[in-house]
Amino acid sequence: MNDQLATLREKRQRALEGGGQDRIDAQHAKGKLTARERLAILLDEGSFQELGALATHQNTNFGMDERHYPGDGVITGFGKIQGRRVAIFAQDFTVFGGSFSQVQSNKISRIQDLAIEAGIPLIGLNDSGGARVQEGIQSLAAYGEVFMRNVKASGVIPQISLIMGPCAGGAVYSPALTDITIMVDQTSNMFLTGPDIIKTVTGEEVTAEDLGGAYVHNVTSGVAQLIADNEQHALSLTKTLLGYLPQNNAEDPPQLEPYDPPDRMDEALNTIVPGDDRMAYDMRQLLTHVFDHGSTFELHRDFAPNALVGFARLGGSSIGFVANQPLALSGCLDIDASDKIARHITLCDQFNIPLITFVDCPGYLPGVEQEHRGVIRHGAKIIYAYCQATVPKISIVTRKAMGGSYVALSSRQMNNDVAYAWPSAQIAVMGAEGAARLLNRRAIAAAEDPAAEEARFVAEYKEKFFNPYQAADVGQIDEVIEPRETRTRLIRALEVLRTKVSQDVPKKHGLFPV
Ligand code: COA
Repeated sequence: MNDQLATLREKRQRALEGGGQDRIDAQHAKGKLTARERLAILLDEGSFQELGALATHQNTNFGMDERHYPGDGVITGFGKIQGRRVAIFAQDFTVFGGSFSQVQSNKISRIQDLAIEAGIPLIGLNDSGGARVQEGIQSLAAYGEVFMRNVKASGVIPQISLIMGPCAGGAVYSPALTDITIMVDQTSNMFLTGPDIIKTVTGEEVTAEDLGGAYVHNVTSGVAQLIADNEQHALSLTKTLLGYLPQNNAEDPPQLEPYDPPDRMDEALNTIVPGDDRMAYDMRQLLTHVFDHGSTFELHRDFAPNALVGFARLGGSSIGFVANQPLALSGCLDIDASDKIARHITLCDQFNIPLITFVDCPGYLPGVEQEHRGVIRHGAKIIYAYCQATVPKISIVTRKAMGGSYVALSSRQMNNDVAYAWPSAQIAVMGAEGAARLLNRRAIAAAEDPAAEEARFVAEYKEKFFNPYQAADVGQIDEVIEPRETRTRLIRALEVLRTKVSQDVPKKHGLFPV
């Protein structure tokens, strides 16, 4: 027995050593942690239960029969984060560059299956040179096993991907199929075809960082939702993010003891919207006054900055927020903002997180480029996502709610549960100057003083429509509230809506306007 135990211990020790000290040193020299160091930071101490630590490949090509590392470049298992169970895999770049082998596929697929069956979040730490080249098509095809389970798990358990090194070729689609992708600045990248191939095919010269670094995917492409300054930050963001999410779609998100008084009136909100409606204000600041202190957790912060989305807490409960940001493009909706908002609505709905929408939107962004790139199709995503969402939905019009964007942004007619407006709300079919040109063009042209005639019409139009009362009169707004009451109103409405039941006609699935 002693010999048998010694053999097991020796094998386990080898698994702990990954690709050996030289490769661990090389990993550190790149400013990266090893897979095991990452797991030690992320998981509660002593909670990790590894599976498949001794698995190795069966490949004999290119001298691979001489090279075996227990675990084969990925560490998989269960652990706890702040006491909550999670399933996890971490690719180990020190073993064959973390490359994806048949064994990796088997191990990751197995942990995905177990996570779905146990109803617990799955976290993937990606750091890999892609499909294991020595295995040929076998490992490439094995990605399909992982993708299939990513899709099976979608909407059932939260899936969070951290990109902590390279993630190239087919490998990018696994994170892309998950709920949230977090990238580490300067040390991670994601691309389908790398700089060398791009140079050969198109002649473009680009660095890996400029092609698919964390900044690019958080600001330009929108592929990632969060950027981390370093690996520790990425792991800490993961813990915070999990705090807003339930274990699975059959559960509610964790409820915290309320630490910010639910009946707190916030006087600052009464003066946050400038009297002059041509002046912008910071919606981000507005949100922090409404939500529980320090609870705002933004996603996609730098992508489509004209819209804000994320999680926060109200009275200790998780909520998802969607808001227009008047500081960018006057809060207009465009293609990227539509994608960002629609994705977030769907994310919240799948995990029973109520949606709060703050509306200050002059409309969809006008322009040939937007129309030709399909702003209709993208804008339709917002409508589809709101209409499809069955979680409690509450909206607050803080200022402009104009034209199609008024309807699209969680209006009463699209199954919104409660619609509030501030006294500063302007709910109208279009802006006053546009309406003057459309309705009063001839009278303005014929007037002795056309400018004065236009100003008279604009003033009359604003007087009639640039307020919330016409919408309140016809029931499109449930209540006009003082801004300082917003927090209390939301918390009380959410209490009522907690037991909301919504039934739809059975169908296979609709056609989301992708
Ligand atoms: N298959 C097998 N081994 C791989 C691999 C892969 N896809 N990617 C990396 N490795 C191995 C390397 O051969 C090297 O092994 P060694 O230490 O025994 O020499 C080790 O992983 C580290 O790779 P290295 O290239 O030295 O690291 P780097 O940090 O300089 O570069 C990459 C990282 C990812 C940019 C580079 O490894 C790379 O371009 N890999 C191939 C990516 C690719 O085209 N994959 C194709 C399938 S999608």
